[in-house]
Amino acid sequence: MDFPQEVLFPQKTIFRKGAASEISRECLEFGSRGLIIHGRSLEKNKKKEEILNQFPAAAKVKTFCRVSGEPTLDEIIRVIETAKIVKAEWIIGIGGGSVLDLAKAAAGLFNAKERPAFYQEGGELKEKGIPFIAVPTTAGSGSEATINSVIINKQKGVKLSLRNKSFLARKVILDGQLLKSLPFLAMSYAAMDAFVQGYESFISKNATWFSETFALKAIKLINQNILPACESKTEESLSSLLLGSYFAGIAFSCSRLGVIHGIAHSLGSLYDLAHGLICSVCFVPSIKINKAAMGKKYEIMSNAVGMDFLERIEMLLAAFKIASPFKERELRDKTKIVQTTLKSGSTAANPKQINAVDVEFMLKEIF
Ligand SMILES: [Fe+2]
Repeated sequence: MDFPQEVLFPQKTIFRKGAASEISRECLEFGSRGLIIHGRSLEKNKKKEEILNQFPAAAKVKTFCRVSGEPTLDEIIRVIETAKIVKAEWIIGIGGGSVLDLAKAAAGLFNAKERPAFYQEGGELKEKGIPFIAVPTTAGSGSEATINSVIINKQKGVKLSLRNKSFLARKVILDGQLLKSLPFLAMSYAAMDAFVQGYESFISKNATWFSETFALKAIKLINQNILPACESKTEESLSSLLLGSYFAGIAFSCSRLGVIHGIAHSLGSLYDLAHGLICSVCFVPSIKINKAAMGKKYEIMSNAVGMDFLERIEMLLAAFKIASPFKERELRDKTKIVQTTLKSGSTAANPKQINAVDVEFMLKEIF
């Protein structure tokens, strides 16, 4: 058995009930000055106040609230400017995938000489950033376990990864309680994204026993807990779903993803729709395309979910009443969607080598 050539793991992961009450202690280990990036829900459920109250008066802590949508390159600049006001020694992201991606990129590029666009286009990052701490409040994007941030470049109308090994979270704090106030739709979209990530990693062309182990564990945990977490929000199901999402993140940061994420990033830059929703509706078409190429892995996944894998996914989509939002939309820029999907690094990891016919098939299924 070979060990994968390279494995990147967050330095410290805390997974326990009430872990959110340890946020200040974990941040202060990096210094007394920092920035908290969060979403609006943290204000609505009063968690923001609770977290700020954890810090001693002498600490210089600023906050930055994301309004909505996905993070842009300009937003990274605004966050870094805010963090510099307090001479931040760390940046913590407390929120969903967009919040974590923004916090991660801002911490990583804190001392960068060039504008963020330079690095998104592949420029070399020479300056060291400041520590990034990840506290996911959705399960989830898996962003807490990865080295990349998905950022929109508005000028070019594209959504691309900004990635660097130094971006990886120094600390991850997993507390299922933080998911409790998440609305049903947001919870189900995020959980389906995590499910897709576990699936794409498991069948990835680059999969190793290491990534497969985490991906399969993620598939099992997410499958078992997705419905109870969304419907009754039991403590146990929320914590297990969050852990499943984290494991999917660890898995795909080693193996990359597949054509669902290739096409989802392309569609996400053209249509203002939740990433988890786009991934959800591409799930079944991807299984159809990849079934032959994934070989015995299909059976392994079916065993993991206790029934035919495709039927289980259809069952979950029906339970969440997820229908394709594209059915009532016009297909714009088809050529551009096909080209960007084919060029995507996620598509490159897909087990079946994807061609234009495959992408057109997926588009036909969802539009
Ligand atoms: Fe995703």
